Amino acid sequence: MKQFKLLRGLVLVISALIMITAAWLAISPGSDEAEEDLTALPEAQRINQAPVSPVIQRDGNVVRIEMTAQRTDIEISQDVIYNAWTFNGIVPGPVLRVKQGDLLQFTLVNMDPEMPHSMDFHAVHAAPSRKFIEIMPDEQGTFEYSADTPGVFMYHCGASPVLLHVANGMYGTIIVEPEDGYETDHEIDQTYTLVQSEWYAENDLDDFQHGDPEYVVFNGDDFSLKEKPLLAKVGDKVRLYVMNAGPNHVSSFHVVGTTFDRVYLDGNPQNVLYGMQTVLIPAGGGAVVEFTVTEAGDYPVLTHQLNDAFKGAIAILRATHDGQDHGEPTMSH
Ligand code: CU
Ligand code: CU
Repeated sequence: MKQFKLLRGLVLVISALIMITAAWLAISPGSDEAEEDLTALPEAQRINQAPVSPVIQRDGNVVRIEMTAQRTDIEISQDVIYNAWTFNGIVPGPVLRVKQGDLLQFTLVNMDPEMPHSMDFHAVHAAPSRKFIEIMPDEQGTFEYSADTPGVFMYHCGASPVLLHVANGMYGTIIVEPEDGYETDHEIDQTYTLVQSEWYAENDLDDFQHGDPEYVVFNGDDFSLKEKPLLAKVGDKVRLYVMNAGPNHVSSFHVVGTTFDRVYLDGNPQNVLYGMQTVLIPAGGGAVVEFTVTEAGDYPVLTHQLNDAFKGAIAILRATHDGQDHGEPTMSH
């Protein structure tokens, strides 16, 4: 009798163990299965919408801007494709140039069939709860605001959670030209726009929060501005419109081999600094930097947070005697 009880107890324990194991197997994907789920996604479920050009039309001081929110594959490093959330299918989004005092009539067309998106312009005064609102999938919205403050401003999607939308690629630059220009306008020979930003594991909110990016880049990838340098002539005064989209890191913006004759913080002609070596650009901030290249050669443009430079945030500015690229070897830094 005692033996029978013992046996029955053993059978009960074993069957309970079997049930627990079966339940655990059912709810927890095996490591092989998990990997398969991530990588074996059918192509059709990966949304890759061809880039759509923005519409920008001026009528007096009214500027009508139409942009898309869309999902598009972006090459962020050689042969590394990121299925990005974008404005107009590019990262960073199109550079917008308006004049101080312009009225913007802005339309966002949300081509994304799955997710709401929005537009937050740092350059305007507007109640976010009314004018930076989320546009539902396959819908569009139009908003009006004026651009009264001159400078280099970030724009980005503000749909919740913002970190997810910005880290996935939804940002760009709007330059509001000062009404009376900058006092150095007549000295400038070359202008370029640079956007610094970070790339993390694709669409991985945990990774975005940890703030340790895989790549830190200028203008969307870590190779284009090394293979095709920015060009200038020896003796040129160069102006860079720089914006740091983050989402998490500041930029310690620096050009090797020169000093900044002038820096306009956030691009405002009243925020002028002279003779700087490095300018701190916060995430969500900008600057206009001006400098002279006095000798022929390659000048690395980078963030002096050197771990971020190492992860890709170096562009090359090449000064030659005629301003053309003669394919000199790229310096390493
Ligand atoms: Cu978005
Ligand atoms: Cu913002």
